[in-house]
Amino acid sequence: MAILPILTAPDKRLKQKSLPVADVDLTIRQLMDDMLETMYAAPGVGLAAPQVGILKQVIVVDIGSEQDKQIHTPLLLANPEIIRTEGELLWKEGCLSVPDQVAEVLRAAVIEIRALDHNNRKIHLEATELLAVCLQHEIDHLQGTLFIDHLSRLKRAIILQKLKKAKEAKEQE
Ligand code: NI
Repeated sequence: MAILPILTAPDKRLKQKSLPVADVDLTIRQLMDDMLETMYAAPGVGLAAPQVGILKQVIVVDIGSEQDKQIHTPLLLANPEIIRTEGELLWKEGCLSVPDQVAEVLRAAVIEIRALDHNNRKIHLEATELLAVCLQHEIDHLQGTLFIDHLSRLKRAIILQKLKKAKEAKEQE
């Protein structure tokens, strides 16, 4: 396994659409394992392949440490698709590609998704609360959408300005 570098906004690659995978073969499985290790090291509760510069529909999520009541084991998914949503909830979100910024985003309270798991099996699952939010956030990444894209133009501009400045400061180090 390997820890991969995480892209941070603004970065064109974070705005692109990812392509579905044909199968979860050994290459995709390796990517999932590397992404999981990268996410744990960050640390974070979710990571999408475009965040490590790979435009494939692959996400990993583990909210185990944050919320014991829900799924403990990590979810490693390819081609995740939301097939049903219910209700709404506001959740304060952050993102490894939008460092040090948090904002409330309106999400569906309950979602049902289908995807391929790490063994290339078709799965179906229903998620609520943090897991639902996290899955919606990661699935958004596959469409080139960041959580800040759900905010008002002004809020987004302020955050992007901060990120740009932080990047420039880092480059000058
Ligand atoms: Ni994110």
